[in-house]
Amino acid sequence: MTVGETEAMDGVAARLERDAAAAIRAAETTEALADAVTAVLGKRSALARAHRDLAGLDPNARREAGRMLHDARQRLEELVAARREELAASERRAMLEGDRLDLTEVTTVASPIARGHLHLVDQTQRALEDVFVAMGFTVAEGPESETDWYNFEALNIPPAHPARSMWDTFYLDLGQPETVVLRTHTSPVQVHLMEEQAPPIHAVMPGRCYRHETPDARHLATFHQLEGLVVDKGITFADLAGTLETFTNAYFGADIHTRLRPAYFPFTEPSAEVEITCTICLGAGCRTCSNTGWVELAGCGMVDPAVFEAVGIDPTEWTGFAFGFGIDRCAQMRHGIADLRVLDENELRFLRQF
Ligand code: PHE
Repeated sequence: MTVGETEAMDGVAARLERDAAAAIRAAETTEALADAVTAVLGKRSALARAHRDLAGLDPNARREAGRMLHDARQRLEELVAARREELAASERRAMLEGDRLDLTEVTTVASPIARGHLHLVDQTQRALEDVFVAMGFTVAEGPESETDWYNFEALNIPPAHPARSMWDTFYLDLGQPETVVLRTHTSPVQVHLMEEQAPPIHAVMPGRCYRHETPDARHLATFHQLEGLVVDKGITFADLAGTLETFTNAYFGADIHTRLRPAYFPFTEPSAEVEITCTICLGAGCRTCSNTGWVELAGCGMVDPAVFEAVGIDPTEWTGFAFGFGIDRCAQMRHGIADLRVLDENELRFLRQF
C-alpha cells in the first residue's frame, strides 16, 4: 500500500464515520436506533465491508487502515451508547407524562364512583318539611300499608260508603279480603298521631301513597303526600287559610298565592281544594292550568267531629284543620315539569339537573 492509498483509506474511514454518526443521531426512538446500528455497524454495513477489504492491502497499510477503522467503530459505538441513553430517558419521560394524563382522564371524565344526590322528590319533601318546621310544626311518619280502619273507617269513611270510590285502592293479600291496603293518602297518619298523642298537635306527615290509577302528566300511581294536622283550642278556618298562604309564599315565592274552592272530603267539614297561582304563566292562563291561571295542589278542611270521636278526642273542647299536599305536584310546579311521569323513570339526564 502506498502513502496515497493510506490517505485514500483515511478519507473513506472519515466519510463512513460521518455518515454512520449522522444516521445514529437521526434515530428518534430506541427501535429506530437499533435499526440504525444494524445498518451502520452490522455485518452488511459499509464499515464491515471496508474491514473485509483490508485483506487486499499490504501489511503496513492494512495495519494503519485497520487502526483507523477500529478507532472509527469505537467512537461510533460510544455515540450509539450515548444516544441510546438519551432516547431511553426521553421515552421514560413521555411514558410518565402519558400516565399522568391517563390519571387525569380517570378522575375527570370517566370516574366509576360518580357522586349521586337525593332524588328531586326527596329534595322537595325536605324543602317542604323545612318550611313547616320553621312555622312550628313537627314531622311524623306512618306505615305505607294500613288496615281499612286507618285508611278509611276512622276517617269517617265506613265500609261501602260511596266516597270510597274517590280513592282507587290497591288491596294486599293479607287477612280477610280487602282489609289491608297500600295507603291511598297520608291521612291515616293523622289517626295514628291523634291516637298516640293528646292535643295540642301541630304536625306534618310526609310519605309515599299508592292509587290504582293509570299515570298521566299530572298523576302517578305511586306518589307522595305531605299531610298537615293542627288540633288546638279555638282553631278556625282562617287559621287554615293563613297557614296555607304563608306556606305558599315561603315555598313558591311572594308572587304565588292560594285560593280555596269548596270541595268534599268525608274527614273534613267544611272542605276545600287548595289552588295556587300557576307558576308557569303566573296567572295569565296557559295550557298547564287549562287557561284558568290556577293549579290544584292540595285538599284541606276543618277536622270533622266524627274523626275526633273515632280517636277519642272531645270535639266540643278541640277544633282543628288538616291538609294534604301532593309533594310530586309541588316539585312539578316549583320546577316547571310538564309531565310528572319523568319522576318515575330514573332518567339520569333529567335527575342530574336538580
Ligand atoms: N287525603 C286527601 C286526599 O288524598 C287530602 C286531604 C287531606 C283533604 C287532609 C283534606 C284534609 O285526597
